[in-house]
Amino acid sequence: MEKKRSISMAVIKRLPKYYRYLRELDKNDVDRISSKELSEKIGFTASQIRQDLNCFGDFGQQGYGYNVKDLLYQISVILGLNKAYNTVIIGAGNIGQAIANYTTFDKMSFNLKGIFDLNVKLIGLKIRDIEIKDMDELEGFLQEEEIDIAIICVPKSRAQGVVDMVTNKGVKAIWNFAPIDLKVADDVIVENVHLSESLMTLSYLINERNEARELTEEE
Ligand code: NAI
Repeated sequence: MEKKRSISMAVIKRLPKYYRYLRELDKNDVDRISSKELSEKIGFTASQIRQDLNCFGDFGQQGYGYNVKDLLYQISVILGLNKAYNTVIIGAGNIGQAIANYTTFDKMSFNLKGIFDLNVKLIGLKIRDIEIKDMDELEGFLQEEEIDIAIICVPKSRAQGVVDMVTNKGVKAIWNFAPIDLKVADDVIVENVHLSESLMTLSYLINERNEARELTEEE
């Protein structure tokens, strides 16, 4: 595990994909897989796979490949998915409600403990069995509950203020949906989710493809 600190973000970002594929293999009772077979499924080269997985330890065996269950377990430990996390959603509008309704996060042990908003029309409504509470109650709630992750779904003009408040109350990880670069203390981790950035990448690729087509047609 000591090696983990020097692992590049690019490798870390690939791990969930390994996890997803290995889980599927495990569900289908596949016991072992070679880096070549895994490469065909996952779309990374076999040498990339060997390199990535070597960063974390000696998982594969020459001539045998990877034991799916072992590797799945190791990756889940590396990703911290063998632990449970308490979460709170702040902002119960479109995005906040969509996330609250997505039960898979709970199945992954990201346990939703509370939903907060300041809109009186939303306060008191329930999403699954969780009542949307008034922001005024958030401070007290954070003192009582050990919340690991705050999920920020408020407008961008409100996001920094909300984040300051929750981090001052001890929340050390932020899953940020607001389109703003948050300023936080060094010991607070922020993971941004910006669908619009992904959409911009898609639009770039669409245009690149179309330009390439036009060039071919001109030839
Ligand atoms: P929305 O307007 O439907 O919901 C925002 C909610 O935040 C409202 O219910 C509002 O009452 C509440 N709110 C406002 N100020 C608050 C405060 N200080 N404390 C607690 N609650 C507060 O907006 P929507 O569509 O759900 O978007 C939410 C955020 O997510 C926005 O910042 C938006 O730009 C962003 N967004 C991000 C996307 C992404 O890809 N990450 C995609 C779409 C939106």
